[in-house]
Amino acid sequence: MKKIVLAFTLMGSLLLAGPYTKEDRIKDMHEMADAMNTIQSGFFYNNYDTVASGVTSLSTAIARIKPPMEEEDDKDPLAKYMNVKIQMSNKIVKNINQKALTILERFKDGDSAQAVQAYTKIMGQCMKCHRELRHW
Ligand code: HEC
Repeated sequence: MKKIVLAFTLMGSLLLAGPYTKEDRIKDMHEMADAMNTIQSGFFYNNYDTVASGVTSLSTAIARIKPPMEEEDDKDPLAKYMNVKIQMSNKIVKNINQKALTILERFKDGDSAQAVQAYTKIMGQCMKCHRELRHW
């Protein structure tokens, strides 16, 4: 019995760790868009918990973003170019994470102007990736 349970647990974690697909990425994009809306309403309603929950969901979603499996495994001559794109997107992801923390710190300090500025910078990073990588 124990073995069967173990087998199911293993299968479950293998399924969860399956390849990252285009659909997964679009789902994460939606989650990030929702998170941005949550942060924004936290600003408007002056509610720290709302801002914090938006920041948490943004950081968790952005951590999952990567090129879908099919494209990562690409062996064609474009693969090198893809690597440049991956490096670039890693940088963007890091920037977004840093600015998300800034939002929290500034908002907590009552400096909403700086918090909003960090928010705007995140939006700039989203759009940067979309401009350069959206045809991914
Ligand atoms: C690493 C690059 C990258 C970053 C950073 C990024 N996106 Fe995206 N986004 C994409 C790509 C690529 C697509 C096109 C859909 C796909 O193929 O996954 C997309 C599509 C979307 C879509 C449309 C999804 C659909 O239903 O078609 C939304 C909404 C979105 N992104 C929101 C965001 C938000 C909000 C942020 C910033 C918090 C963000 N994205 C940051 C690469 C990125």
